Amino acid sequence: MPYKHISVMKNEAIYYLNCKPGKIYVDCTLGGSGHSKVICEKIIPDGILIGIDQDKDAIKNAKKVLQPYCSKLHLFHDSFINLPAILSELNIPAVDGILLDLGLSLHQLESSGRGFSFKKDEPLDMRMNMESSVKAEDLINKMDEKGLKKIFREYGEERRARQIAQKIVRARKLKPITSSKQLSLIVCDAVGKKALFTQKIHPATRVFMALRIAVNSELEILDSFMEKVADFLQPGGRLCVISFHSLEDRIAKHRIKALERECVCPPDFPKCICSEKKVVHILTRKVVRPTKEEVEANPMARSAKLRACEKI
Ligand SMILES: C[S@@+](CC[C@H](N)C(=O)[O-])C[C@H]1O[C@@H](n2cnc3c(N)ncnc32)[C@H](O)[C@@H]1O
Repeated sequence: MPYKHISVMKNEAIYYLNCKPGKIYVDCTLGGSGHSKVICEKIIPDGILIGIDQDKDAIKNAKKVLQPYCSKLHLFHDSFINLPAILSELNIPAVDGILLDLGLSLHQLESSGRGFSFKKDEPLDMRMNMESSVKAEDLINKMDEKGLKKIFREYGEERRARQIAQKIVRARKLKPITSSKQLSLIVCDAVGKKALFTQKIHPATRVFMALRIAVNSELEILDSFMEKVADFLQPGGRLCVISFHSLEDRIAKHRIKALERECVCPPDFPKCICSEKKVVHILTRKVVRPTKEEVEANPMARSAKLRACEKI
């Protein structure tokens, strides 16, 4: 089956990455390799592309899609949190550009069979990396009500988190919750029939997103990566982050801002004692959003936000 994904803000990402022949780039989230393919076209014949994805399907696809374009291609089935080890394995101290295009690919949502979508009846798995140990099913059946409520409220910004967590705990006493359809029906039951007709989005949307974020520790991984990201860039190297969730964007924004901060001493200190230095220059003072045309052609792009910076 062909790997399905429509790359979001491709032109903008390539513009901010400033891809040039002979340079070294990392695509931390290969997905369908849409961004990577354009990067390859810009950096050949001598440029190097390091492609990472924690989903094996993305790596399998990248071998087919990218190998004909780029002779200096290195693919890693791994989490981008392990970029330092990957760079040291390749003997590359720092790179010219890093791209993060966060979230899920269309392939994962629609055809991976891993229960990412409430529209399907699939096993409740939701792991991007099939080698990791915790599945959505484990959280849904084992986590206490308070924990579930916290996930739905914090990661899903779900107003009815308490009712939904309560319903889940009651339902699993009768029978384990093992499929996406089963969970979706429980959520619909918890929010009531009225919500089905009055809400703009399906009532299970936020619960499924929250659960996926928790299963894959997406926010914790992004935050730790962003804290160190400047160490992996050469001076003049660029970082570009595309996010689809307000909490992801908040992490990207704060971490990039922190890298741009100079002295953090209290204003009444006569002299600087912190020795903090500005590490990056922000390229996107205002967050960049997809064009109206892109959103019309691909409604899944509507929540995308892009931030970029350059290492000094
Ligand atoms: C939105 S898709 C990327 C799409 C890609 N830019 C394209 O143009 O086709 C996000 C991808 O990031 C991967 N991913 C998410 N978190 C990751 C992590 N911590 N490490 C590696 N890959 C990750 C997912 O498995 C998924 O394939």
